[in-house]
Amino acid sequence: MNTEVETQIELQDLEPSNNRFRAEILRGLRKMPKELPSKYLYDEKGSQWFDRITQLEEYYPTRTEARIMEADIQEMTDLIGTDALLVEYGSGSSVKTRILLDHLKDPAGYVPIDISRDYLMISAAQISKEYPDLEVLPLCADYTLSFDIPKPNKPAKKRVVYYPGSTIGNFDPIPAQHFLEEIATVCGPGGALMIGVDLKKMPVVLHNAYNDHEGVTAAFNLNLLERINRELKGDFQIENFKHYALYNPIKGRIEMHIISLMDQTVHIDGVSIPIANGESIWTESSYKYNLQEFAELAETAGFQVDHVWTDDRDWFSVQYLTVI
Ligand code: AVJ
Repeated sequence: MNTEVETQIELQDLEPSNNRFRAEILRGLRKMPKELPSKYLYDEKGSQWFDRITQLEEYYPTRTEARIMEADIQEMTDLIGTDALLVEYGSGSSVKTRILLDHLKDPAGYVPIDISRDYLMISAAQISKEYPDLEVLPLCADYTLSFDIPKPNKPAKKRVVYYPGSTIGNFDPIPAQHFLEEIATVCGPGGALMIGVDLKKMPVVLHNAYNDHEGVTAAFNLNLLERINRELKGDFQIENFKHYALYNPIKGRIEMHIISLMDQTVHIDGVSIPIANGESIWTESSYKYNLQEFAELAETAGFQVDHVWTDDRDWFSVQYLTVI
């Protein structure tokens, strides 16, 4: 075992506290309709379920995005240039990042940010082993809150935020704009955002991507209830709930819900929460854009769209945005 490599990585730990988790869960379950923040889907188990989603036949986004990256990587890394600090929001297992890291010229460092601490540490150590010349500076944080970017030893010419996977789709339109404004501030002048954006397409394709026949997406969704049981002394009976996901073409989004199969009362750390038969707990939205809609959003947030790459079916896009 190479301990030298492992001691080089130091984690900045801003993992959300159990108190914050409790407060946000209870606040969401008191709302009408009930909703839970999708960021809490990604504990270690949830991140593993999500990795399985990315392998599913029906789940086209990951595969399509990786293909776009592979096809156009030269253009992408030319735009990024040398001595850039690469900052990844929601790095997970950093699969697509490796395509970038394989081609980037003299990066100043790599800052993977993820909300799941254990998962982040494992992936960051792995990256550091595979790229011994790269300074890896992992940061465990809820990236929707404010945080400082760790400083690399080698000075960076610019900051490039990498935000793949179309996770921007989890935000409603106004929060999405504010979040992009925040990213523009993090990038700073001369900085850039390389972002994956899922595109509008036939509803049946979208529907199937979130309703896979093996039930992996269902397990990913219901894991949130199990997580509440584990971490907040909850008593959700998982078999009394069902995964339900649909595409809403007016809103242009997938809505992922958990539906109660009966009248029931659950308890979370001593707090009683009645849930009616058929009632929904909304766990995630996943907005789909067309190129024009996303360009408008990006421009309102202070970015200029420099380059857009898509696959041959126009199902997914990777976009290089620079700070105006
Ligand atoms: C990781 C947020 C991009 O919205 O497609 C996959 C999460 N949810 N299947 C998405 C997800 C259900 C995914 N993102």
